[in-house]
Amino acid sequence: MEFNNLLIEKEGSVARLTINRPQALNALNSEVLGELACAFAGLEKDAEVKAVVLTGAGEKAFVAGADIKEMVEMNSFEGHAFGLNGQKTMLGIEKMKTPVIAAVNGFALGGGLELALACDFIYASEKAKLGFPEVTLGIMPGFGGTQNLARLIGPGRAKELIFSGKMIRAEKACQWGIVNEVFPGEELLPKAMETAAAIAATGQLGVGYAKDALVNGLNMTKEDGFRYEASLFGVLFATEDQKEGMRAFAEKRKAEFKGR
Ligand code: CAA
Repeated sequence: MEFNNLLIEKEGSVARLTINRPQALNALNSEVLGELACAFAGLEKDAEVKAVVLTGAGEKAFVAGADIKEMVEMNSFEGHAFGLNGQKTMLGIEKMKTPVIAAVNGFALGGGLELALACDFIYASEKAKLGFPEVTLGIMPGFGGTQNLARLIGPGRAKELIFSGKMIRAEKACQWGIVNEVFPGEELLPKAMETAAAIAATGQLGVGYAKDALVNGLNMTKEDGFRYEASLFGVLFATEDQKEGMRAFAEKRKAEFKGR
């Protein structure tokens, strides 16, 4: 499928999805949000793709936020619909079985940070800056940021970042638990692709079900989460991959997973 604002390249079982609107620092307008939703839905259905790396084109930005020029004249109904549309795209990424790594190569602000938070984890370059500047524009985060950031790092630090509108550097974001690891700029994509390839080489069903248990379990009581985990764990014993993985271990050979 052809996109106006996205590039998709495949390396083995890993897809690299680049938001390609550098003239606007990859800002998320309605068209980009729609294309992202469509691209991720397509990647999830693609049997060849077992992990995805998401990044931004150009030297400066991962994504500098939702498109302010599109939002400026919106009325309340349009703002609400725009927020819901962005949330739908973010939830689509959170819920897809295929793991997604955000490679944050520069500014990740507002909707851009919300997009990174919708991915499974974040790697960042040393020069990346992250923040929620929405309050400086008279609004608040609207693509799930208040919910996802507080769940990830706790309400105290989430409130500091969201209420102040300040940007933090990648290193601090790493100390705060927003970013998993920080790399020199030129190493960011190779490292993200390397981790994605390592994930892709494991049992795809196990990874997908583990993601399902983690993402959905966060919204359950611990007991319900345990029950949910147990049922998914049990389902995996009905798969060829479970037999293959365990037999390969016993036979001291590399498992050949088939995703069924
Ligand atoms: N929306 C639309 N256009 C944007 C944009 C955005 N979020 N961010 C940058 N751009 C555009 C600029 O308008 C500029 O375009 P022109 O050349 O046509 O003027 C181009 O990208 C380059 O940007 P700058 O010249 O501003 O680059 P800079 O290096 O001087 O500054 C920056 C970089 C600090 C990131 C600055 O661009 C900036 O502050 N951007 C806005 C960040 C922001 O407030 N994001 C939150 C948006 S609200 C949101 O996301 C709501 C939500 O939760 C859903």
